[in-house]
Amino acid sequence: MGTPGLPVVIDTDPGIDDAIALMLALSGPELDVRAVTTVGGNAGLERTTENALRLLHLLGRDDVPVGAGADQPLVRRDSLPAESIHGTDGLGGIRLDPAPRGADRRTAVELVRDVVEASAEPVTLIALGPLTNVAALLAASPGVAARLGGIVMMGGGARVLGNMTPTAEFNVWYDPEAASRVLASGVPVTMVGLDVTRRARTVPADWAALHGGGPVARAVLGMVEFYTGFYRATSGTDAIAQHDALAVASVMRPGLLTTRRLHVDVECAGSLTRGMTVVDLDGVGAGDARTEVALDVDDRAFAELLVERVVGLDARTRAGAG
Ligand code: BDR
Ligand code: CA
Repeated sequence: MGTPGLPVVIDTDPGIDDAIALMLALSGPELDVRAVTTVGGNAGLERTTENALRLLHLLGRDDVPVGAGADQPLVRRDSLPAESIHGTDGLGGIRLDPAPRGADRRTAVELVRDVVEASAEPVTLIALGPLTNVAALLAASPGVAARLGGIVMMGGGARVLGNMTPTAEFNVWYDPEAASRVLASGVPVTMVGLDVTRRARTVPADWAALHGGGPVARAVLGMVEFYTGFYRATSGTDAIAQHDALAVASVMRPGLLTTRRLHVDVECAGSLTRGMTVVDLDGVGAGDARTEVALDVDDRAFAELLVERVVGLDARTRAGAG
């Protein structure tokens, strides 16, 4: 028996890059995925929950409980799903077999609480969508939050950069109040932001080995094709950013990211800048420097890990390794 993987819960809104991130998380021994919780973001909650269940089924992991969380941001209810990026179904129109089960009877918050309380080791929460569920957990169960090994979030950016507005990244833009509460909570947070995840890219040729492959390969190729179409149309490039997979990879491979402990605030009021992460890179403000902010990535090592693992998934699933 090898060393047991690090216990994690993945909070997600699949979402094409979420789907690929989930595949990476389940592709090897590094992580012990104890639960998946879902949040509305890239698509509505019903859809992201169904997508999570179907993806786990595709990967032979119907044993991983799925808890549905929040469909709407904490405060303002005017954020819209990112359907132009991920398609109306969240997965670029690929068809996945239905799972033989539904979501857990527990909500996302209840499920995370149970997983953390049952674990002898601290559980790391990897947040790949809007932070609504995470903020709700911190409010409902401060004791549980204190026992977390940490929160690794994909969102925001160290340098001003946005993909929803000129200054706001989608996950923080969708629910800025939630992101603000999580970053101010005192739980150790690593923020893997857009300026770094945009450098964690793959190109269609990286996935050549998937052609002629099994069901996982077909799903990945379908999602990559859809996502590449979006990038081509909006940025004229075939290189797609694997935002969420980088957050997962950073937990699997400490050292992949260069981080610095900095103070991070979220702008919740600005009419032009709502959803912006304000990172005190030069230490000129008065706030505590307590968030590990990603500033750089070994992008080649990341892409090699991601592609090698995803390419191996059909064989792994057939072998029943999950
Ligand atoms: C983030 O927003 C979503 O569209 C992606 O899934 C990722 O989590 C990138 O800004
Ligand atoms: Ca996501």
